[in-house]
Amino acid sequence: MGLSQFSLDGRIALVTGASSGIGRGVAKGLAKAGATIIAAARRLDRLEELVTEIETDGGRALAVRVDVTDKVSIETALDRAESSFGVVDIVINNAGVGAPEPFLNIDDENFDNTMNTNFKGVWYIAQEAARRMAGAKKPGSIINIASMLGIRALSGYTAYCSSKGAVLQLTRCMALDLGRYGIRVNAIAPGWFVTEMNEDYLGSEEGQAYLSQTPARRAGEVEELVGPIVMLASEAGSFVNGAVLPVDGAHSVALI
Ligand SMILES: NC(=O)c1ccc[n+]([C@@H]2O[C@H](COP(=O)([O-])OP(=O)(O)OC[C@H]3O[C@@H](n4cnc5c(N)ncnc54)[C@H](OP(=O)(O)O)[C@@H]3O)[C@@H](O)[C@H]2O)c1
Repeated sequence: MGLSQFSLDGRIALVTGASSGIGRGVAKGLAKAGATIIAAARRLDRLEELVTEIETDGGRALAVRVDVTDKVSIETALDRAESSFGVVDIVINNAGVGAPEPFLNIDDENFDNTMNTNFKGVWYIAQEAARRMAGAKKPGSIINIASMLGIRALSGYTAYCSSKGAVLQLTRCMALDLGRYGIRVNAIAPGWFVTEMNEDYLGSEEGQAYLSQTPARRAGEVEELVGPIVMLASEAGSFVNGAVLPVDGAHSVALI
């Protein structure tokens, strides 16, 4: 097999959280690999800009307003994707939030927002998209963007770590239940990537000192997530199912 096994020509990829950071970069990378992009998030103006960029580069894309905690917005977005291009057969569950607080200070609002966005949102999107793939007898690939903090623990991140740990178990369980429909489910566990979620800290002197002690001595570049995700989404990953792939410069294996 040649490099054509990595092609996403003819595929339709829903990317949640495409208005910023990792989702935005991954959407552009998948478009370059040939996929039509359904760019989803709440900030439609940013999604429209991304669609214009993808189209200018010769790709195809559609912006859809989705709140991953709202099932109706998910159904409406997938309906629009279907009538414009067809049934979505790649899902990148990337939308996420983090509001670190010491465990004793986490209130219900923070806890619910973290779990509803990071865990329930992945569940809702994956379930609705998988139902449609199975109904259309279309194989597909679901990729959940978890975190190395779903594997390892970090002080002050109880809600976030718990939500991402739950995503990893959901990934494994879905892989078992959906394999019979030709739908693979895998997770990526990124290390630190500088985005709006963490730029204040990682850009600070303290954050830079912290990064310099990690095995790679730097944060990841969003483009470094594209290759692993294309592998999982494409035929190149046809026997990879239920896996968790850290993309973290060995941070999650280090004792520092
Ligand atoms: N950056 C890192 O170091 C890192 C490390 C490990 C894992 N991750 C994970 O990677 C993913 C992307 O994070 P990022 O670093 O790129 O952060 P970011 O720049 O803050 O992007 C978060 C994205 O999630 C979307 N989002 C949040 N709540 C949403 C909701 N209810 N419905 C729809 N979209 C929602 C936001 O879009 P709108 O506000 O427009 O809706 C935004 O596009 C997250 O799941 C995060 O946990 C990040």
